[in-house]
Amino acid sequence: MELVFATNNRHKLAEIAGMLDSRFRVLGLADIGCTEELPEEGETLEANASQKAFHLFHRYGYDCFADDTGLEVEALGGEPGVYSARYAGPGKDSGENMALLLQKMAEINNRRARFRTVISLVRGGEELLFEGIAEGEILTSGRGSGGFGYDPVFRPAGYDLSFAELPAAEKNRISHRGKAFRKMVAYLLGEPEIPADTITM
Ligand code: IMP
Repeated sequence: MELVFATNNRHKLAEIAGMLDSRFRVLGLADIGCTEELPEEGETLEANASQKAFHLFHRYGYDCFADDTGLEVEALGGEPGVYSARYAGPGKDSGENMALLLQKMAEINNRRARFRTVISLVRGGEELLFEGIAEGEILTSGRGSGGFGYDPVFRPAGYDLSFAELPAAEKNRISHRGKAFRKMVAYLLGEPEIPADTITM
């Protein structure tokens, strides 16, 4: 079964392919000649993941899946959420995004936040959604140099380190994205959920 993953990231493609078995062939956007920017006009992670996957399905005719992730801060009513990448502007600059977040949180004691990933899997026009959540809190300043995006200012629950200070394999084991992808893979393979240490995405 061919499945298109709405990404051009070879590393992500290889990770997912490695988790599936020989019944599946995972293709990237480049493999199907898709060079356009996929539409992401929704106001929720679900709507965006869904829009990307259905766009691929209808325009290119492949069964496929797409993911969307956001940082949801409780005291900010779920901001930046679906706008996480472009919180501080269209430049999608992580440093500026974190600076804006820390500025908005300056007087706020409730630091609770979570990363949430939603995957939309569309096969034969039928959609299934998979969700992965990593709970934690927003630090008062950035720490660490690993990872990407908001990792330096996010401390996952149960850890004294920020996501950017955790070894990549450990972050991936507990991350929103890892959880969501393991759920989808387990579903596709018809197995109970895959153990956390088999994916490093
Ligand atoms: P995307 O949907 O995976 O493109 O994620 C949207 C935005 O959320 C990214 O541009 C980052 O700012 C942020 N983000 C997503 N995943 C992570 C993560 O694991 N750590 C830190 N920031 C993330």
